[in-house]
Amino acid sequence: MTLLDDLAGAVGPGRVLTGADGGAGPYAVDYTGRFGGEPAAVVLPGTVAEVAAVVDACRRHRTPLVPQGGNTGLVGGGVPTRGEVVVSLARLDTVADVDASAGQLTAGAGVTLAAVRRAAQAAGWAYGVDFASRDRATVGGMVATNAGGLHVVRHGDTRAQVVGVEAVMADGSVVSRLGGLTRDNAGFHLPSLLCGSEGTLGVITAARLRLVAEAPERAVALIGFPTTGAALEAASALRRLLPAVEAVELVLAAGLDLVCQTMALDRPLAADHAAYLVVEVAGSEGSGRALEDAAGRLSASTGAMALATGPGERRRLWAYREKHTEAVATLGVAHKLDVALPLGRLRQFVEEVPAVVAGIAPGARTWLWGHAGEGNVHVNLTGLAPDDERADDAVLRLVVGLGGSISAEHGIGTAKRRWLALTRSPAELTAYRAVKRALDPTGVLNPNALLPPD
Ligand code: MLT
Ligand code: ZN
Repeated sequence: MTLLDDLAGAVGPGRVLTGADGGAGPYAVDYTGRFGGEPAAVVLPGTVAEVAAVVDACRRHRTPLVPQGGNTGLVGGGVPTRGEVVVSLARLDTVADVDASAGQLTAGAGVTLAAVRRAAQAAGWAYGVDFASRDRATVGGMVATNAGGLHVVRHGDTRAQVVGVEAVMADGSVVSRLGGLTRDNAGFHLPSLLCGSEGTLGVITAARLRLVAEAPERAVALIGFPTTGAALEAASALRRLLPAVEAVELVLAAGLDLVCQTMALDRPLAADHAAYLVVEVAGSEGSGRALEDAAGRLSASTGAMALATGPGERRRLWAYREKHTEAVATLGVAHKLDVALPLGRLRQFVEEVPAVVAGIAPGARTWLWGHAGEGNVHVNLTGLAPDDERADDAVLRLVVGLGGSISAEHGIGTAKRRWLALTRSPAELTAYRAVKRALDPTGVLNPNALLPPD
């Protein structure tokens, strides 16, 4: 029996795609257009048992696999780079066991973030994670990459929402802990280990997620500042002043211009500014008023502030921040870096990084925006050849020199693994490798992601 025969036996012949003509194309390349390749096949299992049979077939045929969710990753961690089998979890798209009294639900790996948010709302709750690709990104990928997003400052990243997971391990066995116990202190916490493991330790098939209280009042402010430094100082003041703060996002003038041009949006404020914050609060009655007061005080001398309370208006203000990824993509293939700095070094980094890039690649443009509340900056470089990584290297070394991390929320994937040793010590890497060897001795699970080659 060939690999394709065994895969067809596992999921049914109509669920094995090969070649661009056979429908494998959309699964072969990632969102950035920088990473991808020809998969051995794309398989579309519909049950956990089918996922287990696929893992088993790949292991027996010594062909590695790459799990894939909504294919919205930005580091080449969910696409085939060396002829792997792509295991799409899209068909595991059921929300189950919604417990409105505990504030939990179980989502299959293929459930989109938007669907989780809708299910939470229908149960009288909210979900603590949100980001722009909510209509495509799915739970399996979010757990596998420990996705961050816009509300980490309030609710933490995906790991903080995960109560339990179900996953297929490299030997085809299934680990499942979806009972919803929030206190269950019995040894190694496999859900935490699998969360952020980028498909290298197990294929996540479902997750039990905790929900958060839905706030009666929600408001968004967009505030203009004369300098980046002033915006960053305000970002930390706002976190102190507003107990209900849910997002503190940084946008710079060039990025805002690009978003307005490419997305045909009107300018958000009467005058232009060097930097902007998009701030959201969600809390009890009066939270919106507290935001208005704080934003009003911060912009007292400039009057540069817009406030939105209704859903349509809030979405309109968020677009200036959320559309950055799409706007940059219109300029061609971007090099996407996603770094974290200690808050005290954030300003220095934001001010220095364009010159560092220009010193190496004068033709390149540096676009900066991000989650200012947690020191997470998205550094996007355009105007570079896809495989010219000299500027990436310099930026990541600058980050590490300032005490930061080379990945704040997107993960390592294939894109960043050559730099993992910059941000993790030899002892940490030895531990990582030992875990990988123990749980996946044959290297069937996403072997070209996360860990650098030995
Ligand atoms: C965002 O927050 O906009 C994305 O995570 C960043 C990106 O596209 O680089
Ligand atoms: Zn982000």
